[in-house]
Amino acid sequence: MQVAAATNSTDYPFDIKPITDIGGAEITGLDISEPIGPDIRDAIMRAFLEFHILIFRDQDLTKDEQAAFSENFGALEHHVGRLANGQPFPIVHTVTNLGPDGKPSAKTVSRGNYHWHTDKSYHEVPSLTTMLHAKEVPANGGDTQFANTQLGYEALSDEMKDRIADLKAEHSWEASRLNVGAEPASEEQKRERPPVTHPVVRTHPDTGQKTIYLGHHVSHIHGMPRDEGAALIKELEDHTTEDRFVYTHRWRVGDYAMWDNRLLLHRALPNYEVGTERRQLHRTVIIGTKPF
Ligand code: OGA
Ligand code: MN
Repeated sequence: MQVAAATNSTDYPFDIKPITDIGGAEITGLDISEPIGPDIRDAIMRAFLEFHILIFRDQDLTKDEQAAFSENFGALEHHVGRLANGQPFPIVHTVTNLGPDGKPSAKTVSRGNYHWHTDKSYHEVPSLTTMLHAKEVPANGGDTQFANTQLGYEALSDEMKDRIADLKAEHSWEASRLNVGAEPASEEQKRERPPVTHPVVRTHPDTGQKTIYLGHHVSHIHGMPRDEGAALIKELEDHTTEDRFVYTHRWRVGDYAMWDNRLLLHRALPNYEVGTERRQLHRTVIIGTKPF
């Protein structure tokens, strides 16, 4: 893919290089395990708004250091799922295919991640950014894909923009489970995470740009027959996840990614030997603002 002309690196107090035209930049020469201070923090935030996906290369953070770095960008979010032993997920948890015995297993991976989504859209106040720090990655594959729904929105026809301008979609934990054929939500989880409603066309709170805010946590579109709504959701998702709007990240050990959930859909690719190769990434999520 063509890459935009290199950003004037003097704009930033670290080395930064765009990866693709649809987003993504790699940052080198910055150790984010150390406290960063307000100037670097603000520059990272600027880069985040410009590139949507930041990949800090060659990092080595402990879980505590990851929590500390993450908190520069807002409040850490707790997770809905439970560990196999019934305990809540720790605030810095691990996305992995390793089972309790430490061995790779296809059963362990969260299969929902293989479907396009934006994190926690089933919350009234969803995630601003998700951060993944690669600790172990397969020799080949195990990639994560990102689709830029701001570009997807811009490329829609005027008719479609008019059609969806005022639509609202219901998102829920229950629908999320159903949509991916996962174990159904328990009554307790449904009570804990009741359905929420968000605009289909979301305005990015920091840039004012319009984005398509859907993904596999969506149950239906309000005020529209279910099958018509389902067809529209599919059409919009198929459009905004076309190759021309997608960046596929091939992980290296030490990568620390942070991405903007307010304009990106993302998914894991099952393109590795899930049952034999090891994949472990440490994860934190920062709470955002209510979509409008
Ligand atoms: C996530 C997620 C994808 C992956 O952590 O929110 O969707 O590739 N991960 O592990
Ligand atoms: Mn996710």
